[in-house]
Amino acid sequence: MSDAPIGVFDSGVGGLSVLREIRVALPHENLIYVADSGHAPYGDRSSEFILQRAEAIVAFFISQGVKAIVVACNTATAVAIKTLRARHSLIIVAMEPAVKPAAAITKSGVIGIMATSRTLASDSFSRLAEQHGQGVRILLQACPGLVEQVEKGDLSGAQTETLISGYVTTLRDQGADTLVLGCTHYPFLSPIIQKVAGPGMAVIDPSAAVARELHRRLIAANIVAASRQPGTEQFWTSGMPTQVAPVLMQLWGKCVEVCTLPPVYSESIE
Ligand code: DGL
Repeated sequence: MSDAPIGVFDSGVGGLSVLREIRVALPHENLIYVADSGHAPYGDRSSEFILQRAEAIVAFFISQGVKAIVVACNTATAVAIKTLRARHSLIIVAMEPAVKPAAAITKSGVIGIMATSRTLASDSFSRLAEQHGQGVRILLQACPGLVEQVEKGDLSGAQTETLISGYVTTLRDQGADTLVLGCTHYPFLSPIIQKVAGPGMAVIDPSAAVARELHRRLIAANIVAASRQPGTEQFWTSGMPTQVAPVLMQLWGKCVEVCTLPPVYSESIE
């Protein structure tokens, strides 16, 4: 079991921001990444659709014999995590907007959450905000367009900067001194987010904390990789590998092969 791979997925390439932290925290693990690019973005899809896609990808991971799964997508977590955990007994680690750490460090008492509308509208987010946001003002900022810019590999062009400027300025003008990146695509935009926000703004990316949580769960289950060899990475997509590969390699920083997800795991209900 300890030599089995770990499955990590997102609606597209955004989850690579989590994968890179997992690689740092767990250098000997074999990792399988699925970019569900054929169905991205998830942000405007129905809950049924997102749940069905999450189930299909989990089924693919199970066919690959994984020992743990990371849902490297806040939107899929918000919609599907309860059901996935109820149906599958293997370790499933997931994303959660970092409301708690943001509430702990804000000095102005105002924090801004940048995420997809579906994440912000979810019951799980409302519960999280209620639980950890006591005593602070929480500003919700949906950021339409940002996932698409990252999927195109446009991390710093004029259109990307204009979008970010609009969202971040609104939050700053309302007194936020701490921003939470509540979508795994956004860490790839954090240089521009930080530039627009200015040096006084804290920008929180929870990816490293998620990688640490995965590590803890593997230790607790006694299934950390026994091998001392560097771990491998495999990349799969439900989109067109010829389209996905250039952006994936740009974000991952290495030349890699991107394989087509078998059709049975790529189909959708819409
Ligand atoms: N990376 C996903 C997230 O963390 C993006 C969701 C989408 O595809 O809209 O929410």
